[in-house]
Amino acid sequence: MIAILGGSGLDRWPQLGRLEPKTIDTPYGPPAAPLLCGAVDGVRVGFLPRHGQDHSLPPHRINYRANVWALKAAGARAVIGVATVGSIPPHIAPGALVLPDQIVDYTHGREGTFFDGADGRVEHVEFTEPYDGALRAALREAATACGVALIDGATYAATQGPRLETRAEIDRLERDGCHLVGMTGMPEAALARELGLPYACLAVVANRAAGRGALGVLAEIEQHLAAGIAAAQRLVLAALPRIATD
Ligand code: HPA
Repeated sequence: MIAILGGSGLDRWPQLGRLEPKTIDTPYGPPAAPLLCGAVDGVRVGFLPRHGQDHSLPPHRINYRANVWALKAAGARAVIGVATVGSIPPHIAPGALVLPDQIVDYTHGREGTFFDGADGRVEHVEFTEPYDGALRAALREAATACGVALIDGATYAATQGPRLETRAEIDRLERDGCHLVGMTGMPEAALARELGLPYACLAVVANRAAGRGALGVLAEIEQHLAAGIAAAQRLVLAALPRIATD
């Protein structure tokens, strides 16, 4: 099964067709919503909106451990995390789709590991390359095949939210080498790695980051999110058979 985590603007995906809701419990409590399971063009998929079906969970309240555990328990072989972000450099415009290859974690106070020592063991995972290479390649190839523009390679800054950033914070993220800013990229990616789940982030640029755009951030999101999400949906649908046959 290929799992898709939906973010802001992608809490529901009716065009996926008839999917069966599966209630999954985890040692960390319930995930954000029942996992919607079914087949899309013969490929088994599971769709989970990380903020809940009615978008009721802010980024710092998401139970990332329950979400990722539920995907693994349901038999996911790969996870695509669709994530709405702001862009920092001028060449990444609102509406763009980006395939990040690195992440910097600025979040705090989130339950960010399955390896918290409760069983008396200390474990560390490699996270040098936080996103799965084969999954990223499948998304790149799908983008070419379906004619959706995709920017390959960027560093995602995961911020705490739910407030947006200050101009000085965005300047700092830029000095740190970050290109995208979003609130949900971590600990999701690290948790997937801990469970051995190949994970890639498909970032949907909804706005220019604070202090970088002509409009306010929220006004830009309003203006660009829907078109970006529609392109991301096309791309994910084109990628599914490529991932399934890997
Ligand atoms: N900052 C943080 N998270 C976001 C943004 C942003 O500008 N846009 C969408 N998610």
